[in-house]
Amino acid sequence: MDNSFVLEFDDVDIYQEQNLVLSKVDFKLAPAETCYIIGKSGSGKTSFLKTIYGSIPLVSGKATVAGFELNGLDPKQIPFLRRKLGMVFQDFILFEDWSVGKNLMYILEATGWKDRGQMTARVLQVLEMVGLNGYEKKPVTSLSGGEQQRVVIARSLLNNPPIIIADEPTGNLDPDTSDEILYLLNRLSREFGTSIIIATHDYRLIQKFPARVYKCEGGRITEIG
Ligand SMILES: Nc1ncnc2c1ncn2[C@@H]1O[C@H](COP(=O)(O)OP(=O)(O)O)[C@@H](O)[C@H]1O
Ligand SMILES: [Mg+2]
Repeated sequence: MDNSFVLEFDDVDIYQEQNLVLSKVDFKLAPAETCYIIGKSGSGKTSFLKTIYGSIPLVSGKATVAGFELNGLDPKQIPFLRRKLGMVFQDFILFEDWSVGKNLMYILEATGWKDRGQMTARVLQVLEMVGLNGYEKKPVTSLSGGEQQRVVIARSLLNNPPIIIADEPTGNLDPDTSDEILYLLNRLSREFGTSIIIATHDYRLIQKFPARVYKCEGGRITEIG
């Protein structure tokens, strides 16, 4: 496959249980490119993202994600694949009883970091990247919804991923806060060359922050103009 893409799907069928959710998926994402995945509830957006991060195994077609071939991927490789993916999901929430900093340190520990000095420095760095300087000691519960989503984005950045996958990242946020999150994602893409995939049903955001749009419909995913 072509190395100029960070993510490439070629003729992939995606199943949930025995049901074919999306067939013949062809999809490419270049470095620093942002794209949207839209479509009605149940149309397969999350299934597509799950295939990207190895939660749904690839059974047909070919796919490469951040240098990992998904065909016949050894399950032991999945944690390493996921370190290349910043994941921003509604169901991958923060530990509310912990401080912001502890939530981030926990991920560094879980992904093999050992040097406490480097870990602390990285936590402060990602908080700065999302505009939350000085938030490390704050309890998660003291933050607004938009601030919590920034922490989720900071967490996704810890291992400097080439790709961010965001599943309905503004689903619980008001329009102004949603805009802030999209500004932030756009800035990360520009400054750090991160590629970003956003599943959303918020057409307002797509008009305000234009990027390529793919639609899931009738078991297919197609680029729309
Ligand atoms: N864990 C699951 N087990 C079985 N079927 C599922 C599961 N998750 C989703 N589905 C089905 O797969 C289809 C696509 O769902 P999903 O990818 O979640 O769509 P979307 O994210 O666009 O709402 C739906 O028909 C849904 O019912
Ligand atoms: Mg979904």
